[in-house]
Amino acid sequence: MKTDRILEDIKSRIDIIDLISEYVQLKKAGQNWKGLCPFHVEKTPSFTVSQAKQMFHCFGCSTGGDIFAFVMKHEHLSFQEALALLARKSGVSLPDAGSFRRTSERDEKVRSILLETRDYFSLQLERSQKAAAYVKGRGITEELLQSFRIGYAPDGWQNLLRHLRGKGFKDQEILESGLAVSGTKGLYDMFRNRVMFPITNMSGTVVAFGGRAFDDATPKYLNSPETAVFRKSETLFGLSHAKEQIRRENRVLIAEGYMDVVICHQFGFSNVVAPLGTSLTIAHIRKLRTMADRAVLVFDGDAAGKAAARRALPLICQNNFAASILVLPDQEDPDSYLKKNGAAAFSELLQHAQGMIGFLFSINQGDKLQTVREVLGLIASIGDLLTADEMLTELAETTRINETTLRDELKKMKAPVKGKSAAPPAREAGPLVRRNEEHLLLSAVLSAPGKAGYVLSRISVREIADKTVATLFSRMASLPAGKELLDVLEEAGEDEKKMVTMLSVDPGFDPEFIDRNIDDCLAKIEKRKLDEKVLLIERSDDPALSNAFLLEKQKLLKGTNL
Ligand code: UTP
Ligand code: MN
Repeated sequence: MKTDRILEDIKSRIDIIDLISEYVQLKKAGQNWKGLCPFHVEKTPSFTVSQAKQMFHCFGCSTGGDIFAFVMKHEHLSFQEALALLARKSGVSLPDAGSFRRTSERDEKVRSILLETRDYFSLQLERSQKAAAYVKGRGITEELLQSFRIGYAPDGWQNLLRHLRGKGFKDQEILESGLAVSGTKGLYDMFRNRVMFPITNMSGTVVAFGGRAFDDATPKYLNSPETAVFRKSETLFGLSHAKEQIRRENRVLIAEGYMDVVICHQFGFSNVVAPLGTSLTIAHIRKLRTMADRAVLVFDGDAAGKAAARRALPLICQNNFAASILVLPDQEDPDSYLKKNGAAAFSELLQHAQGMIGFLFSINQGDKLQTVREVLGLIASIGDLLTADEMLTELAETTRINETTLRDELKKMKAPVKGKSAAPPAREAGPLVRRNEEHLLLSAVLSAPGKAGYVLSRISVREIADKTVATLFSRMASLPAGKELLDVLEEAGEDEKKMVTMLSVDPGFDPEFIDRNIDDCLAKIEKRKLDEKVLLIERSDDPALSNAFLLEKQKLLKGTNL
């Protein structure tokens, strides 16, 4: 089968709405579906998906494309990997992977090394009494071992290295995968004598490892360094296991550690993720926000846990996440709490998780003014006015400070400080370009490719002012027989692709009146040309010229009814 036939086959089996709904909460809006864009920060949805066109486009950041583009971008995959993933999902079998090669072979190599390593560690766990006893002692069941693919990196300096070399991987590739360290005597294994937690991206592909030491060895957890396929600040442990439940509950639990995530699953709380030993980042929050409206921070009861929760609040507010904070008893984390008290008690705690104001009050130990200042700071960063207003009322009620006073304080905070430039406004939804008749014309031809011949007979590409639209029309003019513009976009530039996804997702006219639309657009373009000429003449001193043009103008005006 030819490449494009296979792509078509996959596309016909996967509906873009189903696919994107796995990542982003979509709501029906007219013909299309809308949600918060996973590719930039926004407060009102401008990420739009068209079922009819099987395309998405974000009117805020102008990212767009088909199912392959979405998966590539969201999962940081090469085209080939996205293809493999969607082929698997749709049950289409790929003939020879080689014929699809388009981007980074190195990334693929790294991923296959990581996968091989995961299986190797997994096997080693079965073979090591010590490791098996450790995981059992920590209450990890066989089922969880399997689903998280937890493993063991044996003691010694070159176990994994030898194994990977034996599989034909080169030293350089192993180094680039973050699994080996280069010493004076050559390479040696990065992970030695540790219980290994594979870290995956959202679709379940292994991108890194976290390894726990058995005893008091330091560090307690050792994580893979960042590699071509692993960005720590964007990755959340457990996300591929949790994503469905997060969407179902419309709520995500954010814990601190690997063990917390695994044990939460064991007790039936499967909407839980954890960052990888770092603070929560804006990228983490944004990713989660596209999947749910509510987040509960389930942090350790110690000072560090509280501080981490506090640091996360501004990010949460900026992204309009409704958040609550569950502070566990001192010295406890979700793992230990669940084992001691069980699922029902944990559930109960979750139900009584504190709101942000209550939480800040408790960590400020009742210091009212400190808390008011902190909460006002948060409110100032909330984009959604209703949410901000509700929080302000709650603050007034909790502190018994007059609401008007609080509002005045808030205003002062929001006013730009002299000498300092105000923070740049968040990028909000807004049309990428103002639609004009040229866009509409292109849009009409995209939705009815059969009309292309007619349009091209009425207008010359040179007359189109917008460079991108003009390029697309000239591509259209030289299409091989039987092809549509959408078929040849592969070779097109970024601007062209953006324009096409934007217009496909939101054509900007009623398809029932397509012919009238086309004629209207053509007439307007004629009129514009004419106006330009008239302007030229009015500025010219040559009477003969202007007479000739005036005649032409009259002639044209009669013809166009404008
Ligand atoms: P904790 O010290 O709270 O460990 O670190 P834990 O998750 O409770 O682990 P157990 O129960 O003792 O096994 C929380 C998280 O911080 C990161 C890890 O992601 C860990 O899960 N961390 C911690 C590191 O990356 N390196 C470390 O040395 C310690
Ligand atoms: Mn723990």
